[in-house]
Amino acid sequence: MDEGTRIGSYSRAQHDGGRSMRILVTGGAGYIGSHTCLELLGAGYEVVVVDNLCNSKEESLRRVQELAGRNLEFYKVDLLDKQALHAVFESSPVNAVIHFAGLKAVGESVTDPLRYYHNNVTGALVLCEIMGRHKVKNLVFSSSATVYGDPSEVPIKEDFPLFATNPYGRSKLIIEEILQDLHRADETWNVSLLRYFNPVGAHPSGRIGEDPNGIPNNLLPYITQVAIGRLPELFVFGDDYPTRDGTGVRDYVHVVDLAVGHIRALENIISGPGVVTYNLGTGQGYSVLEMIAAFEKASGKRVPYKIVARRPGDIASCYADPSKAEDELAWSAHRGIDKMTAHAWHWQHDNPNGYGEP
Ligand code: NAD
Ligand code: WQD
Repeated sequence: MDEGTRIGSYSRAQHDGGRSMRILVTGGAGYIGSHTCLELLGAGYEVVVVDNLCNSKEESLRRVQELAGRNLEFYKVDLLDKQALHAVFESSPVNAVIHFAGLKAVGESVTDPLRYYHNNVTGALVLCEIMGRHKVKNLVFSSSATVYGDPSEVPIKEDFPLFATNPYGRSKLIIEEILQDLHRADETWNVSLLRYFNPVGAHPSGRIGEDPNGIPNNLLPYITQVAIGRLPELFVFGDDYPTRDGTGVRDYVHVVDLAVGHIRALENIISGPGVVTYNLGTGQGYSVLEMIAAFEKASGKRVPYKIVARRPGDIASCYADPSKAEDELAWSAHRGIDKMTAHAWHWQHDNPNGYGEP
């Protein structure tokens, strides 16, 4: 049985008499997970990470600990390995779980749906079973604005109709429904479903950020790789959408704001609300051309681009009504497009090959 690799363990003496809560972060080595681990450590939580490193590197966690000046516990474990996960819960008891671990590439989910359903849905099932067995029933789950499909209007509220347009999105919808059923069966479960809009940017230190494998699917990592010279030019997918300049409009949200949103959701979940759902976005939409212009201003680099055909499955406009999170979690995004683009560039500039070899 693979019990994973422990790369560090937090000394209680460093903290407030050992009274702090212990949080398991699945997928904690990934993009949003690593930023959230840093915020958790900064807020005084003890952090246990489970990640199989299928889309991340251990280096992210080393840097999180360096930035926080505190250690976390890391287990290189696959969520699908029930016995190994059970062993983590045995040796590192926790009070709550933040569940990031999952596969997230929309196109890949269309060509390899079984892998996506198996990893994302079965992974969530195994996690919930082991949590239940250990009487840990507080869960914050990474959902996505993709569960709204192609909304009939914007801004999007949490009670809008839900619809999946690809297997990735359907895996998120299925997990949301499973978690609702779990709470119906046992009301002692508390679950926060966080529907992120478009997470971008990096920690202002430039030490941790998004490190996509291969050619990026998402807009801002593609832009930063053009600016650093890894890619020759950006392809803008369509300029004939019914938007102010014809290009797609999205609600980009700074990853540090998103990470803070998880702390707020955790504080709320521990008070026992049952199943709650929140949009995490800024409420402000920007077009592709506006993102390019903002990036050029923040970085001083020019981003050559070419308008090409629409990308299949893309929608014209998607942005949040984030007022529920504001009212109930006292959370709102403070970092604007200037910081999103400047921090993304700082990270890319200082780490041209991400966490890989220089
Ligand atoms: P990421 O790929 O950087 O992080 C996910 C982490 O999960 C990776 O470190 C990966 O190694 C790990 N992982 C995957 N399957 C695993 C398994 N079976 N066992 C253990 N570890 C596993 O992605 P991210 O951008 O940080 O996204 C985190 C979560 O947020 C995902 O669930 C994603 O679907 C969701 N989300 C992301 C976005 C986005 O645009 N980045 C938007 C909405 C929702
Ligand atoms: C943003 C805009 C593109 C790349 C995806 C997932 C969604 C969520 C977030 C996980 C669009 C345009 C992009 C490029 C471009 N992930 N674009 N050239 O598609 O809104 O959302 O990531 O949950 O589920 O679908 O984000 O960054 O890919 O695209 O013109 O090379 O940029 O058409 O208008 P998207 P994105």
